[in-house]
Amino acid sequence: MDINDDPALNIAQARAEWDVQRTFLDSCSYGPPPRRGWEAMQRSLDEWRAGSVPWQTWAESVDASRELFGRLVGAPAGQVATGAAVSQLLAPIAAALPDGAEVLIPDFEFTSGVYPFAVHADRGVRVRTAPLATLAEAVDESTALVSFSAAQSATGEVADIPAITRRAREVGAITVLDGTQAAGWLPLDAKQVDFLAVAAYKWLCAPRGTAFLTLPTRDSAADAPETADTSDTVGTDHLCRDDFFGRLKPLAAGWFAAGAGASYGMPMHLADGARAFDISPAWHSWVGAAPALELLLEIGIDQIHTHDLALANRFRAGLGLGESDSAIVTIDLDAGQRSWPGALDRLDAAGVRYSQAGGNMRFGFHLYNDEADVDTALNAVTGTVTS
Ligand SMILES: Cc1ncc(COP(=O)(O)O)c(C=O)c1O
Repeated sequence: MDINDDPALNIAQARAEWDVQRTFLDSCSYGPPPRRGWEAMQRSLDEWRAGSVPWQTWAESVDASRELFGRLVGAPAGQVATGAAVSQLLAPIAAALPDGAEVLIPDFEFTSGVYPFAVHADRGVRVRTAPLATLAEAVDESTALVSFSAAQSATGEVADIPAITRRAREVGAITVLDGTQAAGWLPLDAKQVDFLAVAAYKWLCAPRGTAFLTLPTRDSAADAPETADTSDTVGTDHLCRDDFFGRLKPLAAGWFAAGAGASYGMPMHLADGARAFDISPAWHSWVGAAPALELLLEIGIDQIHTHDLALANRFRAGLGLGESDSAIVTIDLDAGQRSWPGALDRLDAAGVRYSQAGGNMRFGFHLYNDEADVDTALNAVTGTVTS
């Protein structure tokens, strides 16, 4: 059964699973856990304190989360690696780029999608930037890899994933999508890109220290979308995708990346598939992650998408802004304070939890929010009281 077509829970039922205070609108920074995730994590902390269970009990949550995340983004568990942070998961991808490769990113991309590539400047890896709105047009024959967020951290702007990946395929460029500000409210399909990285502590409502990367494995390479033959059209320094995937190494491989039974010494037995890219898991965080992912699947991302956009657009309408396709609404800090003097003080006084990022006030609307939250924030920003 496709749970998105027939959700087990509606939004009202889902909201009852959270204990989020009014008026929390900061899912761009972190997502509070559903009660079942919180309770599972507390139980595991008690077990740790008492020494009452073997560690394997907690580690089982890593594979459970891997499988659940895979279902959320349409990837088999064997293609999902787990880690602690997006930047850590992107590091091996950047290391596999040849010297002198060009990486294209949106000009206001979150640092964790930029620095993993920029640190390779000493071997000639160049990071070129372009506005997100024209990123697809900015891809050219010199582009080896395009790294971009599905929803921008600072602005909430949603990327045109099909347009960017289509153009990247035409020139044979690798695509890396950061779904951290999108997974949990925006339907994502890992098959659209070569790599999908997601930190789960925001819109997926998991504890910090849980992140995923989908990556092509040997078995999946045969299913990869057709890539144009660029050999006649580009210079000799252009990326060869086969060489790139051949160079991709699990640079932080340790005992958790090992195949069954391999804990000591040589020879090396790496686990099959994406698991080789795992790092040793933060056990208790993963215990909290699995129930949150399970619950999101029960609710269905389509339903959350509709709900979150409705709230965001209600907020936008109240601010005099047109409709948008993002659950994140941002207001330029300076312009906002000119239009609505005292807005920041009123937001604080009303107990609205939002964030300031990249010179913007940033509001995130998620499944545990409702129209009353929107109206509280609107009244605080604009200084008007609506019924
Ligand atoms: C788009 C995006 N990616 C990634 C992250 C987190 O990166 P990391 O997991 O490396 O801390 C954030 C955090 O704000 C983000 O907004």
